[in-house]
Amino acid sequence: MDRKQFSQLLLLLLTTFSALAAKDFYDILQVPKGASDSLIKRSYRKLALQYHPDKVKGTEEEKTAAAKRFAEISHAYEVLSDDEKRRIYDRYGEEGLKQHDQGGGGGGGAADIFSQFFGGGFPGFGGFGGMGDEEEQTPKGDDVRVDLEVTLKDLYLGHQFKVMRDKPVAKPAPGKRKCNCRNKVVTRQLGPGMFQQFQQQECQECQNIKFERETETITISVESGMRNGQEIVFFEEGEPLLDGEPGDLKFIVRTLPHKRFQRDGNDLKYNLTISLVDALTGFTTEFEHLDGHKVKVEAAGVTIPGQVFKVEGEGMPLFDHPNKAGDLYATITVAFPAKLSEAQKDAVRKVFKGMHDEL
Ligand SMILES: *[C@@H]1O[C@H](CO)[C@@H](O)[C@H](O)[C@H]1NC(C)=O
Repeated sequence: MDRKQFSQLLLLLLTTFSALAAKDFYDILQVPKGASDSLIKRSYRKLALQYHPDKVKGTEEEKTAAAKRFAEISHAYEVLSDDEKRRIYDRYGEEGLKQHDQGGGGGGGAADIFSQFFGGGFPGFGGFGGMGDEEEQTPKGDDVRVDLEVTLKDLYLGHQFKVMRDKPVAKPAPGKRKCNCRNKVVTRQLGPGMFQQFQQQECQECQNIKFERETETITISVESGMRNGQEIVFFEEGEPLLDGEPGDLKFIVRTLPHKRFQRDGNDLKYNLTISLVDALTGFTTEFEHLDGHKVKVEAAGVTIPGQVFKVEGEGMPLFDHPNKAGDLYATITVAFPAKLSEAQKDAVRKVFKGMHDEL
């Protein structure tokens, strides 16, 4: 197979992978599969504000990535916020939705959904002020951070992990409790011209609450090209807080060392051992990539130890562009024979006679 055929095959493989790895709407909105409507709504709100094209500052590339993300978030919300569409999506996936959509007119664009949700203007910008501040004041439970150990192969192909999670859930309990307490400064007149100021706590009465542990299954989608240290977030799945919002549940990608490959950004490094004869006379060799497909390296001339062969497009897939990939660098190690017989030595001397006279 020549280089061209080979890269065609690779392209085919990569497109298959990226089709498989089409992003799940629940993943996009950072909520578990069974998420309630209100959780989906809150998460959309947070993400839409975060990735709205008017709000993202940075390089053109970052803005483009954010715009793409914004469109994804809006599309996912459009589906998951509509009972019928969500049911179809849960059962038949995106394909099912496409067939469904062919009947009626498709949904509006991302900006339409955004303005339907927020009612026109941009919250926190000009006229709409306050919304962002209000959000910051809501007390939030702690984020739960969990290391997720993945192999390089998981990051190359993408992989779904199912984890069981024991989570405290707030349940109504008998009795009442004080809640939403606020400190108020009260001024009392003690006598003529004598005032005393003191703080007083004002509370409301709320239904008592107890936390019960519930087990749920969470599917974590590790997408191809994800980086070490990247976070996979489940919105409001962290520690709950009385009278506040729960924190988030964050899985942090930790790459396990691989026996044969090392990752360097989007590139891969590989140590390729060849024989002394191959080093001197040229060679064609193949080795297995992370998913088992073969990578070919060849040299016509002399190869020295430490020499590096670059194989384009055989690195890691890019997270934001799964059809593109980094490169692979194969560093040559030459396997020398442990020893030569006298006859072999003579033969070698004869072959190389006169070649190194300058040394
Ligand atoms: C290649 O070999 C060198 C030297 O033994 C080692 O430091 C490096 O980690 C190896 N690289 C890979 C990709 O295994």
